[in-house]
Amino acid sequence: MRLIFLGPPGAGKGTQARMLAAEHGIPQIATGDMLREALAQKTPLGLEAKAYMDRGALVPDEVVIGLVAERFGRPDALSGFLLDGFPRTVAQAEALDRLLKEREIGIDRVIFFEVSEGELLRRLTGRRVCRGCGALYHMVSSPPGTAGRCDRCGGELYQRDDDNEATVRGRLSVYRTQTVPLLDYYRGRNLLVSVAGEGPMNDIARSIRQAVAAARGR
Ligand code: AP5
Ligand code: MG
Repeated sequence: MRLIFLGPPGAGKGTQARMLAAEHGIPQIATGDMLREALAQKTPLGLEAKAYMDRGALVPDEVVIGLVAERFGRPDALSGFLLDGFPRTVAQAEALDRLLKEREIGIDRVIFFEVSEGELLRRLTGRRVCRGCGALYHMVSSPPGTAGRCDRCGGELYQRDDDNEATVRGRLSVYRTQTVPLLDYYRGRNLLVSVAGEGPMNDIARSIRQAVAAARGR
């Protein structure tokens, strides 16, 4: 099972990826999470990435491609993976194709999350993330039982530095210019399936499962 989750910031990629990856026992390879981890550990790569992330720009392709190539080399990625937030430029998609070719494998499906811009803004400005386990919350639509604390691990909830309205608008504009061209890239390869990304999370999870099952039956 090798999947790509593609969609704008706040579309629900991370929320759905956590569930599906756990169900299938495959790693969720989320470049945003990997970059934030590097930053938390104050590695040179993390500190370099911070300047881009804080202003809502993309981190240079070669940095992100290097991270993913290294991640693919770990044993747990042999049985499959779910890419969340990568690729997001045509250059990244082409590099991914080369990495897959070297391993003589392919992608089963690219799931595209369709969500309106007003809803994306609402989701991102209200999002909170657990510092301990990475669980995702929303102040209005999925608040924690105890304010500021994770229901699962008791960790502290925080707001991402790039989740303020000005940066979110910048991220959406970067998405439109740099990532939207990937829709045609994967449509042309007959891999793209669009899923309605608004509504109850379980309904969206069901649509994704159906799209994945259809790919496996091909
Ligand atoms: P990254 O961390 O990948 O952020 P993103 O793509 O902007 O997407 P998000 O994580 O913000 O949204 P999501 O789709 O995962 O939504 P979520 O499930 O959290 O990237 C951050 C930065 O890192 C980039 O700007 C860039 O600088 C850098 N970077 C990362 N990858 C890169 C790459 N490949 N190349 C270059 N640079 C890269 O949900 C959002 C909220 O909505 C949550 O509060 C959630 O609870 C809520 N929610 C989810 N589903 C629903 C629903 N159905 N109904 C109501 N609320 C919902
Ligand atoms: Mg995410």
